[in-house]
Amino acid sequence: MKIISVVGARPNFIKIAPLDKVLRQFPGRVEHLICHTGQHFDEKMSDIFFRELEMPKPTFNLGINSGSHASQTGRIMMEFEKVLLEQKPDLVLVPGDVNSTLACSLTAVKLGIRVGHIESGLRSNDRSMPEEINRVVTDAVSDILFVSEESGTTNLLREGVDKSKIHFVGNIMIDSLVFFMPRIEQSAILETMGLVAKQYLLVTFHRPGNVDSREFLASLIGFLNSLAKERTVVFPVHPRTLNNINSFGLSGMLSENVMMINPVGYIEFLALTRSAALVITDSGGIQEETTFLKVPCLTVRENTERPVTITLGTNELVGKDLDRCLARAAEILKNGHGKSEIPPFWDGHVAERIAEILLNH
Ligand code: UD1
Ligand code: UDP
Repeated sequence: MKIISVVGARPNFIKIAPLDKVLRQFPGRVEHLICHTGQHFDEKMSDIFFRELEMPKPTFNLGINSGSHASQTGRIMMEFEKVLLEQKPDLVLVPGDVNSTLACSLTAVKLGIRVGHIESGLRSNDRSMPEEINRVVTDAVSDILFVSEESGTTNLLREGVDKSKIHFVGNIMIDSLVFFMPRIEQSAILETMGLVAKQYLLVTFHRPGNVDSREFLASLIGFLNSLAKERTVVFPVHPRTLNNINSFGLSGMLSENVMMINPVGYIEFLALTRSAALVITDSGGIQEETTFLKVPCLTVRENTERPVTITLGTNELVGKDLDRCLARAAEILKNGHGKSEIPPFWDGHVAERIAEILLNH
């Protein structure tokens, strides 16, 4: 069986690395090739993950980089079609909800190639998010749907998907976290940055809804400055956010108490997450990682496609009300966060379950 897995953006690498490790254990039965669309391309957004997650260099790199949604998606489709026509894989695997996921699933299905979607069924029910469109379309054209949390199954069934296509396997991001935990625990990033465990906050923001408007980005910076009066704030800045801070002329506004740094590699980031007193974010993956690590998380969004991080985990939605977020942060820092359960099948064995399903398919 020849399988091509697609990666394009930072979260994709973390989801395909564990599957690649498992599929490589079946050399006679599976040929697993990785295609990088090039959607993310900076060393700190791409290459560092291949090194740290011990992934082989991608067999194909489409070199697409940035662009408008239509341009990025269209160019990925045109280049990926060439790969598929030449390689004729039996299956294309696409993780997550980024433009590379959408582009490659559409390209494959139109050539009659089967598609497996990893992290299927998540829904924010908010079509203003580009990711929500990508999720809905990818699920609609996929043949095998690998679900990370129970809400995924419920959503797919509600949309009329045949039960036989849905496989509740758990969260594959957590496989990476479990596998690399010894290295994460040994990371020297706290010492290097002069941080004390459980005394600092970790924040990330990159959703267009939060960082593409000058007004809200300026409020976010004011909010970080307020937080930093009480505790050290570590802020690894996503390139979209950095570009906007610069182009909106906001770079001078950030107080020097906020440690604004470049994106960090996977091991360093998870070491920073694990020892944070509180994480404040708008990321999808970070809501899940904090749940697994039992670190309190405040999500600056009106909705989440990952509701289990709220019902069982440590995550809490604060909407875009930054005063409310500031108040909740103060309460959590004082009293801690009550509940923290790890969702079913977030156990480090998801890639094995997926491989078993693929091998028996
Ligand atoms: C993308 C995904 C988003 C995901 C995020 C993870 C889509 C629609 N969005 O958002 O779902 O949460 O990745 O991080 O697929 N840039 C660089 N260097 C890079 C990558 C990006 O400079 O290595 C800059 C470019 O100027 C680009 C901007 O960041 O215009 C946005 O990149 P893009 O991949 O379009 O979307 P993200 O915001 O990264
Ligand atoms: N991450 C990282 N370095 C950083 C920020 C994030 O390694 O500086 C990792 C982290 O594990 C996170 C993942 O990248 O879960 C996905 O990141 P992002 O928030 O960009 O994407 P999303 O999950 O929102 O699509």
